[in-house]
Amino acid sequence: MIDPNYIRDRIRTVPDWPQAGVQFRDITPLLQDPKTFRVLVDCFVHRYMDQQIDVVAGVDARGFILGSVVAYELNLGFIPVRKKGKLPFHTVEESYELEYGSSTVELHTDACRAGDRVLLIDDLVATGGTMMAAARLIAKLGGTVAEAAAIVDLPELGGSELIRANGIPLYTVCDFA
Ligand code: PRP
Ligand code: ADE
Repeated sequence: MIDPNYIRDRIRTVPDWPQAGVQFRDITPLLQDPKTFRVLVDCFVHRYMDQQIDVVAGVDARGFILGSVVAYELNLGFIPVRKKGKLPFHTVEESYELEYGSSTVELHTDACRAGDRVLLIDDLVATGGTMMAAARLIAKLGGTVAEAAAIVDLPELGGSELIRANGIPLYTVCDFA
């Protein structure tokens, strides 16, 4: 079992970035330190290695880092949920509000198949808008989010509650309450 404090203590908080009032929780120190990166990846791999998962989806851009490594270690494929305008083939799209702005994400229409159980990975849950938009994309293709997973939860922004209220199981390693 991972110690949430081990991870939380290694996340850097940058005040007033990218705009005044936002406490930006920067996960790059977790990736930069080899031991911490391994502990983090192993935590996700062990959690999902015996679960029935068909494919791992990662959210642009920070969700790609963890999601692709976890997919590789689980011997699963990886599908990118990308910001609008980056995917070249036919796509489905969903828009959402962020803590600081709004955005649209897309998924290739052949990224997963009806009935697939998808592990959805991002670095952080704030308002939950991104995870919910990604989950709607997967649902549009007939997939099911087996679990949504992130390193960090910011519970005061309500995203984790929203995701769970919509019936999507959510796992986060640590929170900043
Ligand atoms: C951040 C973060 C999550 C999302 C969480 O991504 O990586 O994807 O915001 O916020 P929410 O729960 O309020 O939706 P961002 O859109 O800043 O993009 P980036 O990964 O490219 O930095
Ligand atoms: N994405 C949305 N809110 C964030 C925050 N406070 N820190 C890092 N990433 C975020």
